[in-house]
Amino acid sequence: MSAGLRFDGRVVLVTGAGGGLGRAYALAFAERGASVVVNDLGGDFKGHGKSSSAADKVVEEIRAKGGKAVANYDSVEAGEKLVQTALEAFGRIDIVINNAGILRDRSFARISDEDWDIIHRVHLKGSFLVTRAAWNHMKNQKFGRIIMTSSAAGIYGNFGQANYSAAKLGLFGLSNTLAVEGRKYNIHSNTIAPTAGSRLTQTIMPQDMVDAFKPEYVAPLVLWLCHEKCQENGSLFEVGAGWIGKLRWERSLGSIVREKNHPMTPEAVQDKWEKICDFDNASKPRTIQESVSLLNDVLSQIESEGVSMNPTSYTRSASSGFDPSKYVGQKLPTVVYNYTHLQPILYALGVGMSTQDSDHLKFLYEGSEEFCCLPTFGVIPAQAAMGDGGLSSVPGLNIDFTKLLHGEQYLELYKPLPTSGSLTSESTIADILDKGSGALILLDVHTYCGKDLLCYNQFSLFIVGAGGFGGKRTSEKAKVTVNPPNRTPDAVLSDVTTADQAALYRLSGDWNPLHIDPGFAALGGFQKPILHGLGSFGFAARHVLKHFANNDVTRFKAIKVRFVKPVFPGQTLQTEMWKEGNRIHIQTKVKETGEVAIAGAYVDLTSTLDKPSTKEPIKASGLQSNLVFEEIGRRIKEVGNQLVKKVNAIFQWDITKDGETAAQWTIDLKNGSGEVYQGPAQGSADTTFTLSDQDFMEVVLGKINPQKAFFSGKLKVKGNIMLSQKLEMILKDYAKL
Ligand code: NAI
Repeated sequence: MSAGLRFDGRVVLVTGAGGGLGRAYALAFAERGASVVVNDLGGDFKGHGKSSSAADKVVEEIRAKGGKAVANYDSVEAGEKLVQTALEAFGRIDIVINNAGILRDRSFARISDEDWDIIHRVHLKGSFLVTRAAWNHMKNQKFGRIIMTSSAAGIYGNFGQANYSAAKLGLFGLSNTLAVEGRKYNIHSNTIAPTAGSRLTQTIMPQDMVDAFKPEYVAPLVLWLCHEKCQENGSLFEVGAGWIGKLRWERSLGSIVREKNHPMTPEAVQDKWEKICDFDNASKPRTIQESVSLLNDVLSQIESEGVSMNPTSYTRSASSGFDPSKYVGQKLPTVVYNYTHLQPILYALGVGMSTQDSDHLKFLYEGSEEFCCLPTFGVIPAQAAMGDGGLSSVPGLNIDFTKLLHGEQYLELYKPLPTSGSLTSESTIADILDKGSGALILLDVHTYCGKDLLCYNQFSLFIVGAGGFGGKRTSEKAKVTVNPPNRTPDAVLSDVTTADQAALYRLSGDWNPLHIDPGFAALGGFQKPILHGLGSFGFAARHVLKHFANNDVTRFKAIKVRFVKPVFPGQTLQTEMWKEGNRIHIQTKVKETGEVAIAGAYVDLTSTLDKPSTKEPIKASGLQSNLVFEEIGRRIKEVGNQLVKKVNAIFQWDITKDGETAAQWTIDLKNGSGEVYQGPAQGSADTTFTLSDQDFMEVVLGKINPQKAFFSGKLKVKGNIMLSQKLEMILKDYAKL
C-alpha cells in the first residue's frame, strides 16, 4: 500500500472502469485505500451489447491486490443504480469519475439522429444522471469530488466527431456550473481532456502510440484532483504521456462599436474587427461576474462618453497620450457636509466603538459631558469629494470607478471636529503618477467649518490599468508611508469586527456596494463583501488614541496609512504599535490569517502640554440667544425674588455655534434676588445645558419644548436633570421678546 495521498474511508465510483482509462483509475484509487465501485456496461466501443465480464475482471484484479471493490454492470443512463451500488456496498459516496464513453464517428452530414442521441445519452446525460444521484449525499456530508471527462475533440474540434465534440464540451459546461454550486459544500468538480492508448484510440493511433500513451499517465492527475487536500475547482486540464497542462479562457480587450444615440451597425463591427480580435492586453476572466462586469462598464462608458468609440482606461493608457498636466492642480466643486450628533456616533460604532468600554461613552452618547468626535471622522466630510460631482465630474479624466482602489490615506487635524454642523470641503487634484500597472491620483481635500480649517485629507487613489502614459512615478506632494522600527511592538491591541461591521460603517457615507453586496464583491474577485479600508483605518487610529493618548482627541494630530490587503467582516484587527517620540508607528494585521492589512502607517500625537488650547475664544457676539439672556436678566431684576424661591438653582448655559461653544451664560436663581451674567457659573452650576444658538431660539419661541429638545439630542443636560423641568417656566415667562 502506498503512503502519501491516501483515500482510506473514501468511496469512489468510476464509470466505464472495465478497461482503458477507467480501469487505471479504479486500480490506482484502490491501491491507495479507497473502496471502489467498478462500473461498466461491457458493450463494444460503439455502444452495442453488454457484458459483466469487463467490470468483474477489474474487481478481481483489485481484490487480488488486497483492495476493496464491487462491480456494477448498469449503463450510466441508470445513474441512480450506480450510486445505489456504492451506498449498499460501502455506505457512502465521495468521488464520482464520469469516464464511460463510446464513439459514433461520422462526418457531419452523415450523422444520424441515433448517432447523435446515443453519444449525448452516454457521455452528457449519463454523467448528469450519475452525478445528480450522488450530489445530495456529497452535499450532506460536505465533501465531494467530481471528474468530467472531456476531449481535445470538444475543445478544438475534430473531423468526424461533431456529435462527440458537442457532448464532450457540454461536459465542461456542466462541470463549471457544478463547481459554482458545489463550492460552499466542499464539492469540487474538474474536467480532464486525456490522451491515452485504449480501445477507443486504437482505431486512430498506431499501436506503438497506443502502447506509449499509457492510462497510468493520466490517473495521477485524477487522483490528485479528487483528494481532500486539493482545492482546485472548476478547471480544465489536458493530460497525457506524463504531461499535464491547465487551460483557461482568454478574452481580447475588444472594442466598443456603438455610440450613444446611434444605431449599432455591422460596418462599425467591420471597422473595429482588428481591435476586436487583438489579443494584446487580453484579460482572462475566471467567473461569469468578471465576464459580465465589463458589459456594465461598457454601458456606463457609452452613456457618459456619448462620443468616444473606445474610451476604456486600458486603451487610453496603452495608446492615447493621456496628459496628466491638464488635470493636476484642478479644483473640484466644493462639497458641503451637514450633520448632527448622529453621524459621529454612527461613525464611532462603524469603527468598533462599544458601550462595553466605559471610556467609549463620550463617543457614543450625545448626553455625555465630554461628547466628542473621533478624529478619524475627519475623512467622512472629505470623502464626498470622490463621488458624484467630485472626481467623477472632471471632464476628460474618465475614471473607471470599478477599477479604483483606495491605496493610501493621510489625515491631519487642526482642530477637534465639531459634533454637529455644516462643513465644506475643497478638493484639488494634487498630482497624478504613473505606476505602470495603474495611475495614482493624489487628491487633496481641505475641510472647513466656516472659515476655520479643520482638517486636511490626502486620498491616494489607484486606477488599475490606467498607467503607462509616460508620467512620473513619484511626487513631492505625496504624504509618504514610513516603515515601523525593527523591534517588537511596544503595544498590541486587537478588536474583533462584527459580521455587520461593513454594513454599519457604510452608513457613514461610503456607499460602494463592494462592502455589502455579495454579487458586487464577486465582480471585484472577492469571496464576500470586504470591510472598508477606512473602516480598518478607524480601528487602528482608535487603538493608538486609546493606548497612547488616553482617548483624548485633542492629542491626535495626523495619521497616514497604506491599505495592503482586504479584511473581511468578522475578522480580528490587531494593531501593532511602536512609540518613537510623538510618532506612533502602526501596522494592522488580520489576526486569523496573520496577513498585514495596513502597513507603513503612523499616527502623530501632540502632547496636551505643549498644545495650545483648541477651544475658540468665546465669541459671544452675533448670537440670537444673547438678546434672550439679556431680556431674562432684565426680568429677573424685576421679579427675581419670587423666582429664587420657586426655582432655587443655578443654571449654566453653553451655547454652541457650528459645533463649538460660542457663549456661556449663567442664570443664578439661588442667591440673593437672582441674576443673569455672561460666563460660566461662579461656584458651581446645579444644571448645565448645552445647545446650539438656533435650537435655543426654537425652545424659547416655543417651537420645541425642552423635553423634546432633550430627547432629540439637541439639548444636553449635565447635573441635576430634574431641575430642567423648571426651565420651561423661566423661558416662557421671561423671554418674551
Ligand atoms: P475505453 O473504451 O477503453 O473505456 C470506456 C469504457 O466505458 C468501456 O469499458 C465501456 O465498456 C464503458 N462504457 C461505454 N458505455 C457505457 C455505458 N453506457 N455505461 C457504462 N459503461 C460504459 O476508452 P477510454 O479511452 O478509456 O475512454 C475513457 C473516457 O475517456 C471516455 O469518456 C473517452 O471519451 C475519453 N477520452 C479518451 C481519450 C483517449 O485518448 N483514450 C481521448 C479523449 C477522451
